[in-house]
Amino acid sequence: MAKIIGGIGSSHIPAIGAAMDRGIGDTPYWKDFFDGYVPVREWLRREGPDIVILFYNDHGLEMFLDKKPTFAIGAAPEYHNADEGWGIKPIPPVTGETELSWHIVDELVENDFDPTVCQEIKVDHGLTVPLSLMYPGNSYQGVKVIPVCINCERHPMPKPSRCYALGRAIGAAVESFGGDQKVVVLGTGGLSHQLDGERAGFLNTEFDRECMDKLVSDPEALTAYSIEDLVEIAGAQGVELNMWLGMRGCLTGRVREAHRNLVAPISNTAAGLQLLLNE
Ligand code: DHB
Ligand code: FE
Repeated sequence: MAKIIGGIGSSHIPAIGAAMDRGIGDTPYWKDFFDGYVPVREWLRREGPDIVILFYNDHGLEMFLDKKPTFAIGAAPEYHNADEGWGIKPIPPVTGETELSWHIVDELVENDFDPTVCQEIKVDHGLTVPLSLMYPGNSYQGVKVIPVCINCERHPMPKPSRCYALGRAIGAAVESFGGDQKVVVLGTGGLSHQLDGERAGFLNTEFDRECMDKLVSDPEALTAYSIEDLVEIAGAQGVELNMWLGMRGCLTGRVREAHRNLVAPISNTAAGLQLLLNE
């Protein structure tokens, strides 16, 4: 039986990729942010997961406003990034894991989730930046990645309760997969932020802290929020909390918080990082 050993919530902003490329992680602006990743990298190195299931949102690289699946899942042998205009350099392709992808798709459809299946898909900063952060020097090619993409750009967006339920269904699917793979789940984005409009630059770190507390002890409490609530309380792009809820839904055991960091502002966001162990 494949086993989910833990979940990680992480920021995904493109400026992180640019900061790594430029080697400025030790400057006053970035130091607290990058220092936060040291224990998470160390944990990943120690545990050596075989598979990463990664919840992210495609900001327009592959899925623009003209075609926007609510939920999509990758089932490709390999994933490439591409120029999004943020200045992130090309990185080595990400390795896929088609067998478990298809098993998850089968189980999701059987359980009344109907994802778009992507056998060829480019992946954006929502997926690549956290992987580069977790695996220094882009050393992620030995781990197999399953992208799970949630619409967070165009209304109507799936409710937090639905994203949490999607995570539950994926968690159950992994546990019914024959094999002895170690799986880690990532949810990327957030936390509070708004990139445009009258409230551009809006943050709510008090709410972010509350969310991180609830992600450990009472994730169901977060599923009571509507998308409109999240836009108001956490900013228009604070809806990326949905990715963290998908990640948390996958954790089936008793959950312990092993590490947390929250730095604000980093670019336009409150940048969160949380490592949850599935015990
Ligand atoms: C920023 C935040 C995001 O979530 C994103 O997808 C792109 C940029 C930012 O704060 O710069
Ligand atoms: Fe984003």
